[in-house]
Parts: sequence; structure tokens; C-alpha cells
Amino acid sequence: MFIAGTGTDIGKTQVVGMLARRAQASGLRVITQKWVQTGVRPGDKTDLDAHDAWFGAQAPDLMPWRLPYRFEPAVSVHLAAQLAQTPIDWEVIKSAYFELKKRFDLVIVEGAGGAFSPVSAQLSSPLMTELAQSLGLPIWVVVPNEVGGIHAGVATLAALNARGVCVAGVILNQRLPDVDPLVLADNAAYFQQNYPGLSVDCFPFRG
Ligand SMILES: Nc1ncnc2c1ncn2[C@@H]1O[C@H](COP(=O)(O)OP(=O)(O)OP(=O)(O)O)[C@@H](O)[C@H]1O
Ligand SMILES: [Mg+2]
Repeated sequence: MFIAGTGTDIGKTQVVGMLARRAQASGLRVITQKWVQTGVRPGDKTDLDAHDAWFGAQAPDLMPWRLPYRFEPAVSVHLAAQLAQTPIDWEVIKSAYFELKKRFDLVIVEGAGGAFSPVSAQLSSPLMTELAQSLGLPIWVVVPNEVGGIHAGVATLAALNARGVCVAGVILNQRLPDVDPLVLADNAAYFQQNYPGLSVDCFPFRG
């Protein structure tokens, strides 16, 4: 499965870790993957370390497949790739995914930034969500469970739909403390009522 988000810092890493723990508890051999991460210097912790905190440390020799591209500048993917003169190559990502898929029952992939963050400077070039779809991965979108969450979720679903990307479900993530319970419940009800066929999951605030 592929975990996209309505934006950066929306809680994808936390959600991926939680899903990996849940899958592992159900008896699956599970691994997580992040195709591209920026803002990491050698030795820095990555999103994969945060995933592993949820479901246990993973063998270090899997790292080149789990994180095929990493860049030091804390900028968006397309700019980091441009600065490093290292274009993102789908073949590299695809083969890393299939290496993991050979060894595990489930590979949970965390997207980079929001669902539309580009990997190159052309709007027409493929999105990571489109690659995920071409690999047959169910796509989930993490939506902030707060005021403004409906707009963020609806806009992202509509934009992905316009690109021909099917979304399997949304995960409403409460990343802020003290969100009015009425808002939390109403956001979930909105997606349940207006998107029949879409799975709606909720992830609580973890203080
Ligand atoms: N449910 C939650 N409860 C408490 N804190 C949360 C929750 N979800 C996210 N956060 C916090 O919000 C911040 C951003 O979350 P996270 O790193 O998971 O976002 P992301 O979407 O993976 O970001 P990026 O686009 O950089 O990969 C982190 O400090 C994280 O601990
Ligand atoms: Mg992350």
C-alpha cells in the first residue's frame, strides 16, 4: 500500500508506523519503504527510523531498497534532485520495491510531501501516486483531522481523481491536541457519507 498525504507534516510517518505494527500483529511479514527523503545528512534519523520505532528494528542491509533516494538539502524532492544532479529514476524505485516485495508479505510505502509534490519540474511528469498505482498499490491519503480537514481531503481526492488516480481510503489523523470532538466526528462522517466505497480510518492524537 502507498500512503500519500494532503501535505507535508500531515502525519504520514506516524500512520505508516502504526499500520506496520497493526499488520505485524496480524501475522504478516511487513516492511516499510520511503522512495525519496530530503533533509537528511549522513547519520541523521530518517522516516524509516520512526517507522521502526513502531514495529521493531529492521535489518540494516535492507536500507538501500527501503530508501533508494536521500538528499541532504531540506527542500522539496524535485529541487533536491536538481541540486544533486540526480534525476529520480522510476526503474530504480520499482526494482527496490520488487526486491522488498519478494521478501515480505506487505510493503507499506510512505510518499514524500503532499500527494502532488513533484519529482521533476514538469507538471505533466508522473506523480509518485501514479507510479504507486501502476505498481498495483492501494493508495491511502492521510488527511488532518482538524478544522480545514474536509477541504484538504476533498481537494486532494478531486485532484487525484482528475489525474486518474483511484484512492482506496483516507486516514483522518489528529496531529494537534485539543481538536473539538465534534469536529473530529463530523470530519469522519463527512467522508463516510459523501464517498461511498472509500474506507475511512481515524488515527488519534498521541501526546
Ligand atoms: N496523531 C498524532 N499525534 C501526535 N503527533 C502527531 C500525530 N501525527 C503527526 N504528529 C506529529 O506531527 C509531526 C509531523 O508528522 P509526520 O512526521 O508523521 O508527518 P509526515 O507527513 O510524515 O511529514 P513528511 O512530509 O516530512 O514526511 C511530527 O512531529 C509528528 O510526531
Ligand atoms: Mg514523513
